[in-house]
Amino acid sequence: MDLFSEIEEPEREELRALRKELEEANYKYYVLNMPTLSDREFDEKMHRLQALEAQFPDMFDPKSPTQHVGSDLVVTGQSLSLVVGNKGFEQVKHKYPMLSLANSYSREEIEEWVRKLPSGVEIVCELKYDGLSISLWYEHGVLVKALTRGDGQQGDNVIDNIKTIPSIPWKIERTDIPEFFELRGEVLLPWANFERLNKEREEQEEPLFANPRNAASGTLKLQDPREVARRGLDAYLYYMLGENLPGNTHFERLDTARQWGFHISDAIKVCHSVDEVMAYIAYWDTERKNLPVATDGIVLKVNNLAQQEELGYTAKTPRWAIAYKFPAEKQLTLLKEITYQVGRTGVVTPVANLEPVQLSGTMVQRATLHNEDFIKSLDIRPGDKVWVEKGGEIIPKITGKEVTGDGLQVTDYHFITHCPECGAELVRVEGEAAWRCPNEAGCPPQIKGKIEHFVSRKAMDIEGLGEETIDLFYQKGLLHNIADIYDLKLDDIAAQERLGEKSAQNILDGIEASKQVPWSRVLFALGIRMVGETTAKKIARKYNTIDALQWATVEQLCAIEDVGPQIAENIVKYFEDIRNLEILNRLRKAGLQMEGEAAPEPTSDKLAGLSIVISGTFAHHSRDEYKAMIEANGGKNVGSVSKKTSFILAGENMGPEKRKKAEDLGIKMLTEDEFLEML
Ligand code: IVH
Repeated sequence: MDLFSEIEEPEREELRALRKELEEANYKYYVLNMPTLSDREFDEKMHRLQALEAQFPDMFDPKSPTQHVGSDLVVTGQSLSLVVGNKGFEQVKHKYPMLSLANSYSREEIEEWVRKLPSGVEIVCELKYDGLSISLWYEHGVLVKALTRGDGQQGDNVIDNIKTIPSIPWKIERTDIPEFFELRGEVLLPWANFERLNKEREEQEEPLFANPRNAASGTLKLQDPREVARRGLDAYLYYMLGENLPGNTHFERLDTARQWGFHISDAIKVCHSVDEVMAYIAYWDTERKNLPVATDGIVLKVNNLAQQEELGYTAKTPRWAIAYKFPAEKQLTLLKEITYQVGRTGVVTPVANLEPVQLSGTMVQRATLHNEDFIKSLDIRPGDKVWVEKGGEIIPKITGKEVTGDGLQVTDYHFITHCPECGAELVRVEGEAAWRCPNEAGCPPQIKGKIEHFVSRKAMDIEGLGEETIDLFYQKGLLHNIADIYDLKLDDIAAQERLGEKSAQNILDGIEASKQVPWSRVLFALGIRMVGETTAKKIARKYNTIDALQWATVEQLCAIEDVGPQIAENIVKYFEDIRNLEILNRLRKAGLQMEGEAAPEPTSDKLAGLSIVISGTFAHHSRDEYKAMIEANGGKNVGSVSKKTSFILAGENMGPEKRKKAEDLGIKMLTEDEFLEML
């Protein structure tokens, strides 16, 4: 080995390691919606990899993450489908590859990029929206496909979900439009809807989305357009492609798209000099904080299309565009103390108490530390100087430590062993990251939390009984559990400070009205662990009285869609606890709805015992209609092809992976007509 190769070796190693790390980070970001690196870290590592690859041209690899864009394709291959779930979208090849953008965090580099352009070039400045890209295909004015970026070459057709976005036209009624055109843009979940969604998820004990981008991405890949519609996505469009399109500049094209009825941001601006570009960046750096959606930078594009053509493309990015990314706001501060919060379900969350710092215009002094594993992975203890960051997330987070402090330093960090609220010994359920207080019936935040959940809007919807009032009634000994609500008396309530007779009467009216709330919501209101609103509805449809549900076994419950062994066990355990039975008895006596409408009986059992996969698009009925038909005839509609699949109802453009898997397993495929005939 010569001297040089020995010196080079660690850098080659680093290059290989970076490729692997970035490939993994791409997968976690785009497919799992669980980012592990901050955008900044990702970009820095990518830049380092680019530099190393330039240094070692012999190590060029077309598969390197520097050479292709990250992929959001839902992988249906065996090992991955376990992680991703089964989401059968049609995969479609892009007419024009969907590229990424070169980016920089440095204003100097942006200035440099502008200066290197031929003189007199016009530059369009736009906001860089922080969602996920979408490609909309219009044929004869009709929206026919809506593709995610996928791996840049082919994407998932999520048209049913895209059609829930009010600002995206399904049809353009004009005669002056080309036969085919494509509009690209960004799908986003506006801040207000993101916050509402996370609040709901918190109430229902579902994991929170880290930021609006992740929430939008998770939403777009749902199989239930009604749920997508409810969450309220939006989209901004920023690029028109196709043949024989009007206009010679990017700006003209966007303006045309606006006239055709598309949602184009008003923030786009044609700039003629470096100074104008830098002024645009400076203006939006602060002004973007007032926008209803998340942005993470500014995009600069050469305006003239002929000039764009001349500049051309690299494997991954156009040379005629660049993104300036706003740095995530970050501060170093002292971690003074770790305290612990007990939630409604008994989960104990560690909280970082910080020396207050100014971040994105607000004073930050607390940040969540999630759980014990998170603290250990960062190796932080009270006394350390830690980095607090506020990027796309609304909740500030600790991203690492700088130096180990000396003043308050403790040698070993240990999570608490007993509940700070009631003193019970904590338990850690296997497979879960959280420590819990098991004292459900005796731990104050759990008691109050259960009552708060019970009266919440989506549960019993009892107005007037807010967090503060519940706390007050708990302190005064009026409320210890949900059944006590129905024993509250006008005089007891009116005797409390801040509550006059009028508000007391309002509360009682709300309590009275709650007796009409249907059975499925009563079931949700009980707060059985992991039984969210949708699951409760499904259970209530199957078990239309509480008496029937009380005797259901784990196996029987598992037969309900969305109910897995863990939820089933929680339900069974709930009914085994005598204290719950007493509460249910009192609720029944109070007059709550403990019975509901029975589920529609199957019209036939022609498909009884069969598992059927629906794939592709159909001419006679929608997918939802076919799903309903299968269920009405006693069959089960399942998402993914496996050994257990009885047959596939195969429409047009069935996904290639599904087709291959079906062929490999020798599973029969029925056409739409064959299926209808069979019924
Ligand atoms: S143009 C060929 N314009 O940023 C150029 N992209 O990091 C295509 N993005 O994949 C992209 N706002 O999802 C463009 N005003 C904007 C954008 C924008 C957000 C996203 C887009 C792209 C990513 C690159």
